[in-house]
Amino acid sequence: MRVLYTLLSIIILVSISMASTEGEKIFKEKGCIACHHPEIDTVAPALKKIANVYKHDKEALKKFLKGKAEPKVDPARFSLMKPQLNDTKHLSDKELEKLVEFILSTQK
Ligand code: HEC
Repeated sequence: MRVLYTLLSIIILVSISMASTEGEKIFKEKGCIACHHPEIDTVAPALKKIANVYKHDKEALKKFLKGKAEPKVDPARFSLMKPQLNDTKHLSDKELEKLVEFILSTQK
C-alpha cells in the first residue's frame, strides 16, 4: 500500500511539473518571452507582476488572452500587447489553460 501511495504521489508531481513546462514552452514559442521577463519589468510588465494581479482570477486572465477583457496591469501600454492577442486568441482551451498556469506560477 505504501509503495502505491509513493508511486501515486510521484505521478502527480511529475504531471504538475509537466503542465508548467508545457505552458512555458507555449510562452517561448509564441515569442512572449521577447517582451516579458519573469521577474523584471522591461518594455512589458514582469510575469510575476501579471501573476500578482490575476492570482485570484484565472478566468479573467484567460478572458484577456482571448481578447474579451480590458487590460488591468498597464493599460497605457496596451497598444504593444494588443497584436499578441491574435496569437493567444487561437490557442485551444487546453493550451490556454497551460499558458495561464505557467504565467500564474511565476508569482512570488
Ligand atoms: C511586443 C512586446 C510584447 C509581446 C511579444 C507580448 N507582450 Fe504581453 N504585454 C506587453 C505590454 C507592453 C503589456 C502591458 C500592457 C497591458 O497591460 O496590456 C503586456 C501585458 C500583458 C498581460 C497583462 C494584461 C493586463 O491585464 O494588463 C498579459 C497576460 C500578457 N501581456 C501576456 C502575453 C503573452 C501570453 C504573450 C505571448 C503570446 C505576450 N504577452 C507577448 C508587451 C508584449
